[in-house]
Amino acid sequence: MLYANRNLQLTETERQAMRRACQFNAQLMDFIRPHVRAGITTAAIDRLVHEYTLDHGHTPAPLGYQGFPRSCCTSVNEVICHGIPDGYVLKEGDLINVDVTTIVQGWYGDQSETFLIGNVSNEARAVTQCAFDCLYLAIDAVRPGGRVSDIGDAIVAEARRFGFSVVREYVGHGVGRRFHQEPSIPHYPTRQSRQDVLLPGICFTIEPMINAGTRLTVLDKSDGWTVRTRDGRPTAQFEHTILLTENGPEILTLTQDGPQRGHRF
Ligand code: MF3
Ligand code: CO
Ligand code: CO
Repeated sequence: MLYANRNLQLTETERQAMRRACQFNAQLMDFIRPHVRAGITTAAIDRLVHEYTLDHGHTPAPLGYQGFPRSCCTSVNEVICHGIPDGYVLKEGDLINVDVTTIVQGWYGDQSETFLIGNVSNEARAVTQCAFDCLYLAIDAVRPGGRVSDIGDAIVAEARRFGFSVVREYVGHGVGRRFHQEPSIPHYPTRQSRQDVLLPGICFTIEPMINAGTRLTVLDKSDGWTVRTRDGRPTAQFEHTILLTENGPEILTLTQDGPQRGHRF
């Protein structure tokens, strides 16, 4: 059975509210980018994100979300996602994903980038390039009336070319007046995603997590959040919030200074 939830379709006024939320979130990403360098702690990155957001009258969505203790996620090297900012000092050779989400007048903008700190291993660079390319190939696969599985098909095909794997336990998601809502956007095809229809007016994230080695994950029991690769090999992720219009996908979280479509790391 095809599944198309018309309740998720935004009006023009609501689309404008999402555009504004995501534009601020992208501005926050541009603000934080030059600070993501060797020598800074992930806690200092978090503090900058927190202050900038409050200074502009907005709210960091991660803080207190299901008990998350900080205002952004910082995921270093073998950490796939949901890394908690702490005293760790970034050093040459690290790779770090910074994931920021802001609530602007009740609407959520969500995006992340992976940063290479100085010279990194060939494997770390390749997996970062692959995650970035997967995101854009997936965006290009989106069309009104298409299926959610078009996204997963594009990502799996690209990862496979390099022998990399695609994380399954964590997925993209509908976003709007809530952080996470329908539809679920898996980065690999599923029985459900083959039936889910992409209607014009829906907003969702695409945020592929690509592992150099095994796709399998481990959740840190001591903090309940940090997700690592089971084999300790590097992983990378990029995320955009997308509005699907009648004419195709509109990337709402495009930055001024960040890596643009086609970027080579
Ligand atoms: N920003 C993440 C996402 O892309 C979710 C983080 S949940 C948090 O969906 F609680 F860790 F912030
Ligand atoms: Co997200
Ligand atoms: Co995010």
